[in-house]
Amino acid sequence: MSGTAFPEAPDPGTRPGKAVADMFSAIASTYDFLNHLLSLNVDRRWRKITVKALAPRRGDRVLDLCTGTGDLAFALMSIWDARVVGADFSAGMLAVARRKARERGQALPLVQADALALPFLSASFEGAMVAFGVRNFEDLDTGLGEMARVLKPGGRLAILEFSSPDRSFFGTLYRFYFHRVLPRVGRWVSGTEGPYRYLPTTVEGFPAPTALAERLTASGFQVLEQRSLTGGIATLHLLLKPPGSPGPTPSGRMTP
Ligand SMILES: C[S@@+](CC[C@H](N)C(=O)[O-])C[C@H]1O[C@@H](n2cnc3c(N)ncnc32)[C@H](O)[C@@H]1O
Repeated sequence: MSGTAFPEAPDPGTRPGKAVADMFSAIASTYDFLNHLLSLNVDRRWRKITVKALAPRRGDRVLDLCTGTGDLAFALMSIWDARVVGADFSAGMLAVARRKARERGQALPLVQADALALPFLSASFEGAMVAFGVRNFEDLDTGLGEMARVLKPGGRLAILEFSSPDRSFFGTLYRFYFHRVLPRVGRWVSGTEGPYRYLPTTVEGFPAPTALAERLTASGFQVLEQRSLTGGIATLHLLLKPPGSPGPTPSGRMTP
């Protein structure tokens, strides 16, 4: 696989996720700065833990779904010799990822695609990962099913996602920060209100790790590990598509 960008998928603007894609495109230019500021750089550590846990083998093809500005993909490429493809439905976020890849001199093929209808053949990837993406899916089970479909049997999936800390003193403090401070700083820096109000809402509405484990199992994954990070602010879910899983189906459209 070279640094050639993949052809763009059929216009994702016609899909129901358009509003979410537009929202991320609107904040793309300040996304990285705010991410590191609002998390006090802890997001970098979480991504490092995630790519270490995925541990692809040399030459493996790895899909970074909801790649955004590409930070998870770059984190993986900095420690593993794998062939990463980034996919996202936001043109604005992908433009930032493309610029970063160029500045770093790194080959990162990027595909504009909806996670709910991935333009890849079944069993195309040995590994897949997604950071802070799945809670945005219009239909979580369809998205999990698509990830299971494009993974080879025996392939691993790492999901890094926000979770809600318990009702400890730390949890209470964090909730105050997350609901009161973060949306204000986000609005102030990005100049848009919606996205940083939307963030706490999606986290609250997202299944807790045990409930998510059930959905993942129903989608055909074996849960290898659920690791709580930084007092439960985020959780790393490490999954396996069992080796005996059903083989490729002809529903995909493209192979890396
Ligand atoms: C919070 S950002 C995370 C970006 C990156 N993974 C990171 O770690 O910073 C979420 C990304 O998911 C993308 N996204 C959300 N729903 C999607 C979907 N259904 N299909 C493709 N991309 C999606 C958004 O466009 C956005 O770039």
